[in-house]
Amino acid sequence: MLLTDSDKAMLDGAEGPATAAAMDLLVRYGRALDAERLCDVRNVAGTMTQPSPVKARLVREGGWDKAYAVINLDSDEDLRIPAMRVPTCQLQQSFGPDSEGIAPYPKEMIELQSDAESFYGRKGVNILATCTPYQVGNIPVRGEHVAWMESSAVVYANSVLGARTNCEGTASTGAASLTGRIPCWGNHHAANRRGTHLIEARTPVDGPLEWGMLGYFAGGLVQDERPVVTGELRQPDLLDLKHFGAAAASSGGVEIYHLPGITPEAPTTQAAFGNGTGAGAAPPEAVPYGERERRGVYEDLNSQGERADVDFVLLGCPHASLDQVRETAHLLEGRRLHSGTQLWLMVPRALRTTADRNGWTGTIERAGARVLTDSCPAMSRSAPPGTRVFATDSAKQAHYLPAILGIEAWFGTLQDCISAAVTGRWKGELR
Ligand code: F3S
Repeated sequence: MLLTDSDKAMLDGAEGPATAAAMDLLVRYGRALDAERLCDVRNVAGTMTQPSPVKARLVREGGWDKAYAVINLDSDEDLRIPAMRVPTCQLQQSFGPDSEGIAPYPKEMIELQSDAESFYGRKGVNILATCTPYQVGNIPVRGEHVAWMESSAVVYANSVLGARTNCEGTASTGAASLTGRIPCWGNHHAANRRGTHLIEARTPVDGPLEWGMLGYFAGGLVQDERPVVTGELRQPDLLDLKHFGAAAASSGGVEIYHLPGITPEAPTTQAAFGNGTGAGAAPPEAVPYGERERRGVYEDLNSQGERADVDFVLLGCPHASLDQVRETAHLLEGRRLHSGTQLWLMVPRALRTTADRNGWTGTIERAGARVLTDSCPAMSRSAPPGTRVFATDSAKQAHYLPAILGIEAWFGTLQDCISAAVTGRWKGELR
C-alpha cells in the first residue's frame, strides 16, 4: 500500500506511540482490503464511551488509555492517548443518568459511561450521543471523505449528503481520529458508488411509513449492493430519507442508494448507473415495487406480532427530529397513556433542549410518556420491565428488537403507535 511521507512518519512514531499504533492498524486494515492508499478524513463518527463489562475490566487494569488502546486501536501496548487529531463525535451510546428509574440499565454501566464522557470529552470527542449526527450539526459536504460508523448514519451521509464513507468499525474510527486517515477503498471511489439495481415504485410513496417500507423492500432485494429508485415518489424530506436508509440498511446492508434528482451525484437515472465522472450508463431492467410488494413488506414487518395488547411503544429510531417530537406532542396533547403501556421517544440530546423550551417535552410527559436521549432499547438492550409486545413506527426497530429482546413487534404509522399507547391495543392496518 502506498504511504505518504506523513503516513510513514506517523508509523515510525514521530507523533508518539499511540498515533504509531493507530497508523499500524490502518496499514494492516488497508492491506487486508487491498486498498492502494489512505485518504484524508476530517470528520470521524465512532464510539468510545459505550460501556461494557470488558471495558470496565480494562479501565480497572489501566485506565481509559488502556481501554482505548485495546478496543479502539487493537493494541496491547501501554499507550497514552493524545487529543483527537481531527473532529470526532461519539455516536449513540447507552442510557445515562437521566434515564435512571425509567430504563432498566445497570448503575455501574451508567457510571462507567459518565466517566468515559469526561475522559473523551477532554480528548476532544464531541459527545453528540446520537445515531443521527447529521441532525445536530455534523453535516459533511458532497465529496468529503469521512469515517463514520452506524449503518443508518452511513447510508444517509453517502446517499443524501454525497459524502464518502464505508461502514467503519470501532477500531478503524479510533485510528482515524488519531491520524486523520482511513483506507481509501469501497465507497470512497466514485466507480464503487454507481447503482446496481433499478427499482420502480408503481404505488405512491409518501411519508415516513411508506418510505420506510420501500427502503425495507430495497434492502431485501439488493442486500449490500446499490439500489436506484424511481417511480411514484413524492418529494421526500429528512424524515422520509432517514427511515428509507435505516430500513434499507436493516433488511440488507445498503450503504449507498440513488434517488435520481435527490442524491447529489445522481442528477438522472443514467448518471446513477454511470461511473461518477459524468458519463451515464443504461439502467438494468426495473424491478417493480407495487401494491403486492408493499403489502408483502408490511406483513413481513408485522410477522412478529401476535397479541394485540401493547405494553410498550417505541418512537425515534433513528433518533427523532424536532418535527417528530412536535407531532408526537400534538397527538398526545390532553391524553393519557393506557395504564399498562409505556411510550419512549428517543431524541438527540441537543434537540431535546429545544423540545423542552417549546413545551413539547412537557406535553409528552404529562401524557405519561418519556423523552429519552443518548441511546435506544436496541443499543442498551433495555425496555420497560415485563414488556412482551411493543409497537413502533420504525422498520429498523421492528426488524431488530424482537431478536434482541425476545418480544413481539407491531409496525405502523405514528398515529397507529399513539393510538396503541393510549388504548393499550394494536389496531394498525395498511391503508
Ligand atoms: Fe438509532 Fe437505536 Fe435506531 S441507535 S438507528 S435508535 S436502533
